[in-house]
Amino acid sequence: LAQDKKWRIGFSQATTIEPWRAQFNKDIIAEAAKHPEVELIVTDGEDKTEKQVADVENLIRQEVNALLISPKESAGLTGVVQQAIDAKIPVFVLDRNVETDQYTQFVGGDNKLIGRAAGEYAVELLGGKGKAQGNVVEIWGGMGTQPAHDRHDGFHEFTDKEPGIKNLLDQQSGDWKQDQAYNIMATALRNNEKIDLVYGHNDPMAYGAYLAAKDAGREKDIKFIGIDALPGEGVTWVNNGELTATFLYATPGAEGLRQAIKFLNGEKVEKTVTLDTMRVTKENAGQIMKDNGL
Ligand code: FRU
Repeated sequence: LAQDKKWRIGFSQATTIEPWRAQFNKDIIAEAAKHPEVELIVTDGEDKTEKQVADVENLIRQEVNALLISPKESAGLTGVVQQAIDAKIPVFVLDRNVETDQYTQFVGGDNKLIGRAAGEYAVELLGGKGKAQGNVVEIWGGMGTQPAHDRHDGFHEFTDKEPGIKNLLDQQSGDWKQDQAYNIMATALRNNEKIDLVYGHNDPMAYGAYLAAKDAGREKDIKFIGIDALPGEGVTWVNNGELTATFLYATPGAEGLRQAIKFLNGEKVEKTVTLDTMRVTKENAGQIMKDNGL
């Protein structure tokens, strides 16, 4: 360890092919650059559970002072997180959970709350409480992840109360990917003459569905809702009128690293740090882009 480096922190990322995760890595690396006492080691699970498990085992062997992990899925990464905990390494779980609560801290958005906000807005778009009418296509994120389940549950707390809303699909997962969502939507369009609203568990999938509808000449009849609100993606698509709304899911990169440093410096940290969300529609999309230099 170089003289000025006090803490060696490992960060195991699930994948970097998804734009939100690329931003997440940028955020954590930028934060690390502000702390000369920290050496940050970033690994890329390449969207494969086995690879991410091997990454974490490696970081444990390197005896990092703290481990940050954003797991690809809950079940497959639980064992290795437990190994780190058993090795007395403080573990900070970011964005997606694992099936143990013996970690030091969880940092991420409240996906149930975001799902509720999306559901409430969907009801409004389809005619309002008690009067909403429409056929809905929901495209799930990865089935083995808590965010997908929470985004589903929150949404349905609102839409299931509306007898006029019909769900056209049953648990169809696009695994967070634009191209998979495109295919799901292309099939849904062939099978259904009337689709009124698409709820994608993230923006790439909502946008993939939009592109499928556009290719079928039906995009004008359909409202598209996504989640993430990256300025160069979801927010831009909302500003272009392609998506109707997206909900901010801030990356926990900067905050996660700050919390780990705080803990390593002997300060107390909360068990859970929840990041704020907001709704992005045509009304505020342009301003958000400007604020981000777009
Ligand atoms: C990126 C991503 C985001 C989504 C998050 C959920 O891998 O799919 O688009 O909001 O993961 O964990």
